[in-house]
Amino acid sequence: MAHQPFHLPERQALFSTDTCPDSPPEGERWSTWDGATHGPVPRPDWVITDLGAVEADLGILKSGKEADVHVVRRWVPGTTRSSLLAAKRYRSSEHRMFHRDAGYLEGRRVRRSREMRAMARRTDFGKELLTGQWAHAEFSALVELWERGLPVPYPVQLDEAEMLMEFIGTDGPDGAIAAPRLHQVRTDVDLQSLFDQFRDLLLDLAEAGWTHGDLSPYNALVHEDRLVVIDWPQIVDVIGNPQGFGFLERDVRTMCDWFSRKGLAVDAHELFGEAAALAAATA
Ligand SMILES: Nc1ncnc2c1ncn2[C@@H]1O[C@H](COP(=O)(O)OP(=O)(O)OP(=O)(O)O)[C@@H](O)[C@H]1O
Ligand SMILES: [Mg+2]
Repeated sequence: MAHQPFHLPERQALFSTDTCPDSPPEGERWSTWDGATHGPVPRPDWVITDLGAVEADLGILKSGKEADVHVVRRWVPGTTRSSLLAAKRYRSSEHRMFHRDAGYLEGRRVRRSREMRAMARRTDFGKELLTGQWAHAEFSALVELWERGLPVPYPVQLDEAEMLMEFIGTDGPDGAIAAPRLHQVRTDVDLQSLFDQFRDLLLDLAEAGWTHGDLSPYNALVHEDRLVVIDWPQIVDVIGNPQGFGFLERDVRTMCDWFSRKGLAVDAHELFGEAAALAAATA
């Protein structure tokens, strides 16, 4: 699935630049940038903010239990400026089957981040999450993680319908090709380098008091030898959540088990100890 190419929409001469049409061509929409909550600045230069930009949905990348991920192209007609985005659309509360249970929400500390504090002021954070604001939770987490320089997709924008983020993969004449998930990578990859990247991420997160909460080779993409971790709505506050150390231990174990099965000598126990000590120091 991850290697499936998507066909590019016809980009030439959509409409001439000296006319201003009332509506975009069939099958496309005006850019949804205006009116959405935007990601952190400074923005990467590939982010298109022009009001005259147009978007097309290129198709579904993956249908998950709680959300569907689509590939969207946004481009500026009459120019060569174009970029791919991953659009995560959470299901409405009636149609979801959350595997992320209330355990994630217990004792969730809301501190440090401006976004998270703002959310906490508006409403009880846990209640808001329980009533279905997972997209908001994931966007806020990505904003914070991106600002800390961690390897996550850049969060482009959030509105009621979807979260748009950086598409991790390649864009070329044959279509968009999504990066494979860690569990699908070829055997000739540099496993040690990928493990080191996972370890750095885990320890950086622990230093901030967090763990991913659902970390696995399914939620890590490998793009040009770089590990990029996705799927963050349930990010766990290790100290504030009564099960925080349990989530941290599971994240470490799931990843270490995978690397061990691939033949790498890793010490899950030691890594958990290191991460737990860093998280405990944030108390
Ligand atoms: N930014 C992205 N760039 C490229 N591919 C992505 C991106 N985000 C998600 N995907 C693809 O979509 C899949 C589902 O994304 P994600 O894990 O965030 O959603 P999910 O609903 O939690 O799915 P699941 O229930 O399978 O865990 C990923 O495994 C990955 O293959
Ligand atoms: Mg996932």
